Amino acid sequence: MALLGIDIGTGGSRALIVDNEGRVVAAASAEHAAFRSLHTGWAEQDPPDWWRACQEAIRRVLTGSGIQADAIRAIGLSGQMHGAVLLDAAGEALRPAIIWCDQRTGEQCRWLETTVGADRLIELTANPALTNFTLTRLLWVRSNEPDVWGRVRHVLLPKDYVRFRMSGEYATDVADASGTLMLDVARRRWSADMLAQADIDAGLLPNVFESPEICARLSREAAAATGIREGTPIVAGAGDQAAGAIGMGITRPGAVSVTIGTSGVVFAATDRPAIDPKGRLHTFCHAIPDRWHVMGVTQAAGLSLRWLRDLLTPATAPTPPTSLTHPTFPAPPTYEELSAEALSVAPGADGVLGAPYLMGERTPHCDPDVRGALLGLAASHGRGHVIRAVMEGVAFSLRDTFSIFSELAVPVERVVLGGGGARSALWRQIQADVYGYAAQTVAVEEGAAYGAALLAGVGAGIWTTVDRACEAVVRAAGTVAPQPDAVSVMNDRYEAYRRVYPALGQIAGRNEPRVDVSGSVRL
Ligand code: XUL
Repeated sequence: MALLGIDIGTGGSRALIVDNEGRVVAAASAEHAAFRSLHTGWAEQDPPDWWRACQEAIRRVLTGSGIQADAIRAIGLSGQMHGAVLLDAAGEALRPAIIWCDQRTGEQCRWLETTVGADRLIELTANPALTNFTLTRLLWVRSNEPDVWGRVRHVLLPKDYVRFRMSGEYATDVADASGTLMLDVARRRWSADMLAQADIDAGLLPNVFESPEICARLSREAAAATGIREGTPIVAGAGDQAAGAIGMGITRPGAVSVTIGTSGVVFAATDRPAIDPKGRLHTFCHAIPDRWHVMGVTQAAGLSLRWLRDLLTPATAPTPPTSLTHPTFPAPPTYEELSAEALSVAPGADGVLGAPYLMGERTPHCDPDVRGALLGLAASHGRGHVIRAVMEGVAFSLRDTFSIFSELAVPVERVVLGGGGARSALWRQIQADVYGYAAQTVAVEEGAAYGAALLAGVGAGIWTTVDRACEAVVRAAGTVAPQPDAVSVMNDRYEAYRRVYPALGQIAGRNEPRVDVSGSVRL
């Protein structure tokens, strides 16, 4: 008996087979085409490409596991949040999806703030109008592509598009739906008031379920395409952050995770919808019935290191090419190689400071237009200093969320690190030193796909509740303690980092920071 967890990420789709004791039997991935950025700050991907990669990952994981396809008892889905997938009456994608990190909708946010009102938005949805949230994308398409908008019959989130291709059902879950700005997060249902104010037809939206609920079954066509038995139940699942939190055992107040994937997220479970009146944190439903969470998001976390890696990769083939028909291109450095180069540089990167605002910044600045920076460079600095500065800059940005947690008295009793960032010993240590907390890792590092598999297990009745599932299977692997000398250096560098945004914000045209963390420096 086994469970299939799927994560439709930004870089690729991952499929994981987990047994009924929570052990990972096999895992496989397939890459997505990189997101397209037709204009600065835009990000689009083709939904059918996610389904193509998902099918590949499922077929590979089945082959790798050696288990019979009919041993899969249930499927759980997770995926990148906030994307707008627009389908016509026949279920065909009308345009590429505008994905989570796209920043084009500043005007639509201002329209919502003016017509609905900033306070009323928070009352209705628990969140402010941010460029990342799905509703703002719908308004953009309605204004800029009226022909497309006129043909939209279904709006889905990325993993829910994959569910649709698996089952023909239009469904979503409360955790992922929280990031649309159309959910009444406190009551865990679509907000009729919000939809009316924005003039969006509720009939375009999928039905909303709690994350462990079964809401669809694998169709005959999808069974033939993936090799899994027709009729296999599919649970609602969750957006990648809530699913990842389940995979790391972040279920109750006091437990906090920090996940560095493409984005970076500090996530705390709460037993009520705790609202940040300044709108810097997201207040969303958790993937556990009757529980919520708050989180702060760094737009470009792993993305910053990937960007640097690509920049450090020679762009052209060596001359003369080793073969005329197959010139060999130099491989990019691996993340292990990058970490190794930065290891010999002391905490503080000898004064080099990175601000990771490559895709604008969400927490705490809510500024889609700010851009990144590398400061403090000297002729004596080498690649290792810059690599370390980028890693530290991402951690400083995530620390901003801890600063808001302390302002709002969100309890932090246990910190768990996840995502690709937790695989680097150096980045783990940097995080412990910057946050000032001992940081755990978990034995199964599969994050969102693992959480999705556990949700499937609850739907299939293997565990009675999500809490029970986590108690039964999530185990700590190790702990990194903050090093006092490094903590003191990092505290000073964080103060310096806090001085950087006001200047960058001004350069990007924002004269008054809209929101900020307490104790921060204003120009
Ligand atoms: C969360 C967020 C990202 C995406 C990408 O709010 O935007 O974490 O879900 O995976």
